[in-house]
Amino acid sequence: MLNGKFDNKEEDFLKVKSENYFLDDVIEGLSANQKFLSSKYFYDDEGSRLFEKIMQHPDYYLTNCEWDIFLQQKESIKDAFYKVPEGFNLIDLGSGDGYKTKILLEYFYQNGVPFRYVPIDISEEPTVKLVKELKKSFPELSVEEQIGDYSQILSSLNLNTYKKKIVLFLGSNIGNYGYKGSLDFLKSVREVLIPGDQFFIGFDLKKDPQLIMNAYNDNAGYTKEFNLNLLSRINRELYADFDINSFVHYPVYDPGSGATKSYLLSTKKQEVAFERQNIVFKFEKMESIFMEISQKYDMNMIEELANLSGFKVQKNFLDNRSYFTNSLWEAV
Ligand code: AVJ
Repeated sequence: MLNGKFDNKEEDFLKVKSENYFLDDVIEGLSANQKFLSSKYFYDDEGSRLFEKIMQHPDYYLTNCEWDIFLQQKESIKDAFYKVPEGFNLIDLGSGDGYKTKILLEYFYQNGVPFRYVPIDISEEPTVKLVKELKKSFPELSVEEQIGDYSQILSSLNLNTYKKKIVLFLGSNIGNYGYKGSLDFLKSVREVLIPGDQFFIGFDLKKDPQLIMNAYNDNAGYTKEFNLNLLSRINRELYADFDINSFVHYPVYDPGSGATKSYLLSTKKQEVAFERQNIVFKFEKMESIFMEISQKYDMNMIEELANLSGFKVQKNFLDNRSYFTNSLWEAV
């Protein structure tokens, strides 16, 4: 364990306690041979704001693809979900502002589908806003929001309204887990389901590498800022002294494996200090920090992931350019 972690003043204690994982993870990542930081820390207030900007940018095609799929195929999605007259619990992992999900919610609601909506998200603000909106537009809809880490909440969910569960995991969020991590995650979802329950999951597909590169290097520079913001966040919250201007954003795509990785490169030989821990990290010129993986998939990989985690693929809903699929799985 690190020295200095606990010798903060009493009034700092609670704050420091909740940030311990962040500090430990950052120190661990920067101490590694291949330096790395976890993309789960991208989403502080500023990071979430930048991610919204990315999603609204045309270079980031993913959002539009999923939007189109929902808009154009909502009727077949409804038919594939609504199999038993009792209806279902719709559990939305990482619901965010519900921008895309609302298309489905509205359609189900207007067509008299009995369901309860359970949005789960780590950020309180968009969740509260979404729930307010839903209550107003769909007064009869039963909504039961949960704020917190979805992987933790999922295992302790206690739903008694409808028997059937349908879990949503949209936006190709799965891509941020490596292969092994994604399998572990999918298995943990399978554990809370019973045979016949469904899982509706978004996968970004392999495609023209240039399109993928543009999505992770948008011409407005939001993705660059999004990555650099994690260094700023570390400066702000952990009292480090990264010189943000001496790092550049560098995404790569491997068309073989489908891995899209983002790195920050140090443009000079330099040192970064964590004043409170009395630690200094050295960077060589062009040394990299691995920031994020955004895995791209093909149908064989999707099939394999489903089978290895206790599901079978029921149906794929693709956009008209085949850039993206919302894959409907059944727990077996
Ligand atoms: C939120 C994980 C789906 O990997 O495409 C967007 C995050 N990173 N631009 C993705 C992200 C850079 C995004 N996910």
